[in-house]
Amino acid sequence: MTKRDFLCLANLSLDEARHVLSLAATLKAAPKGSHADELRGRAVAIVMEKASTRTRVSFEVGVAQLGGYPVVLSTQGSQLARGEPVFDTARVLSRYCDAIVYRTSETARLREMARAPVPVVNALSDDGHPVQVLCDLFTIEEALARRGDGRKLSELTVAWVGDGSSNMARSFVEAAGLFGFALRIAAPDGYRPPSDEVAAARGRVSLHVRPEDALRGAGAVNTDVWTSMGQESENEARLRAFAGWTVDESMLRAAEPDAFVLHCLPAHRGEEIDDETIEGPRSVVWDQAENRLHVQKALLCFLLGV
Ligand code: CP
Ligand code: NVA
Repeated sequence: MTKRDFLCLANLSLDEARHVLSLAATLKAAPKGSHADELRGRAVAIVMEKASTRTRVSFEVGVAQLGGYPVVLSTQGSQLARGEPVFDTARVLSRYCDAIVYRTSETARLREMARAPVPVVNALSDDGHPVQVLCDLFTIEEALARRGDGRKLSELTVAWVGDGSSNMARSFVEAAGLFGFALRIAAPDGYRPPSDEVAAARGRVSLHVRPEDALRGAGAVNTDVWTSMGQESENEARLRAFAGWTVDESMLRAAEPDAFVLHCLPAHRGEEIDDETIEGPRSVVWDQAENRLHVQKALLCFLLGV
């Protein structure tokens, strides 16, 4: 059987993505300890070349809850810091571990890791954060169901406000194409997603200059930091470019009155989102963070064929 990776959303068909989300709902609803054998005897390497709280802990706990053994490595403290080639690391890890979860910068490094003969999961790279976005879609559908809203995800308009060139925004573009929802992105000049990626979403993505235009009719509103990890030297320029782009209650007036507010976290309150909004009744950010655990457990089960 050929191994399956999850480097981007396009690595799944819609049916497979739906299967993962439905398994995630089953795992979330199950009593603790009831799925403790799925990964029995298996080890999963979690390799972090950038900081992480949610991704690292949710994968580590998730693997343990499924009866597997998580092994966490960071650059510092492993031979990656001393320049060991990624492909060498990949081959060695695959002799001990059954899957590799990898957070890195350039896609080239991710592809090198994916040359391992075991499944590799992108835990964030410069080009995407697909596990996060899969969890975000789960969170939106869960929130719709919880309030008895009969709409499907494909009937919803999702807005993205802020850095449209970020890894998060780019995975949302892919998700719009795969799941068929309308994604309206408002981003300043120079911060739009690559046009070939927008084109690949088959008309599901529209680009806007003013946040209000993207928010019109939106049932879910999403944003992310203006300066992502690795872009710290651009911070001043980014603060200038995004001045006035804070998602706040006044901006949200353009969206549906009960639009869900999402943020993958960590948030810079007062920059891309204000305190009142992230703590407000429309915010689903804490469920969003929790759902990392359930969706990633389901994803690992799918990729490992258990
Ligand atoms: N959202 C997310 O990936 O968070 P961490 O950087 O803490 O893993
Ligand atoms: N765009 C952010 C996401 C963090 C989870 C970053 O890459 O830093």
